[in-house]
Amino acid sequence: MTTASNRTFIICKPDAVERGYVGHILDRFERKGLKLVAGELRVLDEATLSQHYAEHVEKPFYGDLVAFMSRSPAFVAVLEGPEDTFAVVRTMMGATNPAEAPPGTIRGDLGTEMTENLVHGSDSVESATREIGIFFPSL
Ligand code: RTP
Ligand code: MG
Repeated sequence: MTTASNRTFIICKPDAVERGYVGHILDRFERKGLKLVAGELRVLDEATLSQHYAEHVEKPFYGDLVAFMSRSPAFVAVLEGPEDTFAVVRTMMGATNPAEAPPGTIRGDLGTEMTENLVHGSDSVESATREIGIFFPSL
């Protein structure tokens, strides 16, 4: 049965697309048992990013975050799995700062810089529902 908590939203960020890691990142999620239910390569504009990152609009790093997230195409997608799929994805992503993320996680294995952290994943069921609504309103 598909419920709100079975789906989550991810972004393979511009650094992941530039480095050719979209296939690798999706492969990790698919091997875990999560199913891709929607996905598209898109250049994200400031209007969309200000909705997506509404909680960060007033933060000092917001300008750098938008510049990074809009500099080249990102791969936006929806994954489906067990209850609280968002938590499975967040565990696989690792800590926000790749330098601190443990080996075995996506950020821990592939990055070293705070901004260039390869992947976004919704941080709660509510965030997943909200973000899927922004990027895939027909789902
Ligand atoms: P995301 O939303 O992108 O999945 O990352 P997250 O939940 O792990 O981290 P969050 O706190 O939501 O921050 C969003 C993005 O902003 C950048 N950031 N920079 N300089 C800083 O202190 C700082 N804090 C956050 C990161 O690129 C992070 O992914
Ligand atoms: Mg976040």
